Amino acid sequence: MTAGALSAGAVPKLQLRDLHVTYRSREGMDVEAVRGVEFDIADKPGVGEIVVFLGPSGCGKSTILKAVAGLLPPTQGEVLVDGVPVHGVGRDRGMVFQTYTSFAWLTVQQNVEYGLKLRGVAAAERAEQAVKYLEAVGLSDSAKKYPKELSGGMKQRVAIARTLINKPKLLLMDEPFGALDPQTRWGMQGLLIDISRKEDNTILFVTHDVAEAVYLADTVIVLSKRPAQIVSRIEMPHFAERDLALKSSKEFRDCEKQLLDLLYKKS
Ligand SMILES: Nc1ncnc2c1ncn2[C@@H]1O[C@H](COP(=O)(O)OP(=O)(O)OP(=O)(O)O)[C@@H](O)[C@H]1O
Ligand SMILES: [Mg+2]
Repeated sequence: MTAGALSAGAVPKLQLRDLHVTYRSREGMDVEAVRGVEFDIADKPGVGEIVVFLGPSGCGKSTILKAVAGLLPPTQGEVLVDGVPVHGVGRDRGMVFQTYTSFAWLTVQQNVEYGLKLRGVAAAERAEQAVKYLEAVGLSDSAKKYPKELSGGMKQRVAIARTLINKPKLLLMDEPFGALDPQTRWGMQGLLIDISRKEDNTILFVTHDVAEAVYLADTVIVLSKRPAQIVSRIEMPHFAERDLALKSSKEFRDCEKQLLDLLYKKS
């Protein structure tokens, strides 16, 4: 029996049903951020998947991720993970925020080990794992530093390592590579693809960078300007080789154009 046959009829990994989020300010000025967003992401057994949300600045991308993380209750509709409605945060979901979030009083390595410590993992095992993830994000030399001694991009990589080490089944990443220089960004994109191939997880990745979307995504969900609504859901080609040459290939450029047209089409 194939993995596909096994998954037939399985509960989706993630379901958004008629999700609406309106921020209500104390002055009575409502901001409608998300309007009727609805989709399923299937759980493909044994296969990781990267789903990219692509949308203009301020359209409501972070709001959608926060609702999936359980940080923000929907105004209407619901989010289900493995068929269970989300009410608050959970260890099955890990989030990397748009702005870096580290504990200032812990060293880089202690920050990365933090989730494992909470789960009672022994010190030696924690350290071994942390060393592995720090190396993966290129911060081996900074293990003993404190966040205030790091650049913005380095802090962001601490946040990425700190989340990845917990191996969440649902990984929520909000423009995680925005503060990185092109070469480091390229390395981080490769790391994410490796993780997705090796681990049976689902990654929701927010960006407004079209090339990043084409490069990373198995599926792209294009969002309208605020209030976020789904414009289109597109399966990306399965590129055999993801190297620098790919980005200048015709197939890649055609995908970029398709997404740009959807992103900026007159509504
Ligand atoms: N706490 C809040 N209170 C009121 N309005 C908010 C709040 N958070 C976000 N908004 C508004 O909701 C809209 C969507 O915000 P959101 O952060 O989801 O956008 P985004 O797509 O992530 O943007 P960006 O690409 O710039 O990060 C924006 O107009 C923003 O001003
Ligand atoms: Mg945002």
